[in-house]
Amino acid sequence: MSTPPKLRTVGLTRRYASSGLTVFQDLSIDVANLEFVAIIGPSGCGKSTFLRIIDGLDDPDAGTIEIDGKPVKGPGTGRAMVFQGFDLFPWRSALDNVAFGLEMLGMNKRERTEIAQRYIEMVGLNGFETSYPHQLSGGMQQRVGIARALAVRPDILLMDEPFGALDLQTRDLLQDELLRIWQTDPKTVLFVTHSIEEAIYLADRIIVLSPRPARIAADIRVPFERPRDEALKTSSAFLEIRREIWGLLKQETTVS
Ligand SMILES: Nc1ncnc2c1ncn2[C@@H]1O[C@H](COP(=O)(O)OP(=O)(O)O)[C@@H](O)[C@H]1O
Ligand SMILES: [Mg+2]
Repeated sequence: MSTPPKLRTVGLTRRYASSGLTVFQDLSIDVANLEFVAIIGPSGCGKSTFLRIIDGLDDPDAGTIEIDGKPVKGPGTGRAMVFQGFDLFPWRSALDNVAFGLEMLGMNKRERTEIAQRYIEMVGLNGFETSYPHQLSGGMQQRVGIARALAVRPDILLMDEPFGALDLQTRDLLQDELLRIWQTDPKTVLFVTHSIEEAIYLADRIIVLSPRPARIAADIRVPFERPRDEALKTSSAFLEIRREIWGLLKQETTVS
């Protein structure tokens, strides 16, 4: 008997009654345990909605979500989200932001501080435990966002354009940080991005979505070995895949 995938969506459909808008219909994907999957697609095609539904923050109109072969409904500790806008609590220190999910789980202060401290270290924020979000750069705030998501030790990490609000240099830096963290603390990852380059650099597999109502336009395996480094981005094989995905996206967004 084969083991079920880590995450499976079956026929997920979301439409908004108010606008009559179908965001996506019949979206079915399987994600293997510890696979890093990037999702790329035009603006407004439903990527955030898809992640929110998987996280249990929104409900589908049809379809199901399964984790390890079991249907799930609503939020759960097995999944955690990292948001584009960081979404930190401004009145909480970096450490207390990271400890937030643990506090929600009812963990005592000593224990949650110890765990939060470990994740602060993992994302390279030693010495900034007591800083508040407004005292941190965007890159540092997103490091807190990543630590907060990891601290609840989810099986599945959902990342919604997590580096989209950062300058290019910080973005490059955090991509490498994420790969390093992912290698020391492996997870199943669904990573939404606008950047083809980012998707190829990070992921094992790239799902290309069509414009709304989104469907899967392509499902591409990224053949590059790990660990990966910056040099990969200028290799001919990398540029070839980039060209291929660019062509797919252009084809999908051409109005016929
Ligand atoms: N609460 C809502 N009511 C009605 N329409 C919505 C709501 N939330 C999102 N939408 C619409 O759903 C579509 C998909 O949104 P979103 O998932 O944010 O797309 P993406 O993340 O791919 O840019 C958009 O056209 C958006 O306007
Ligand atoms: Mg979005």
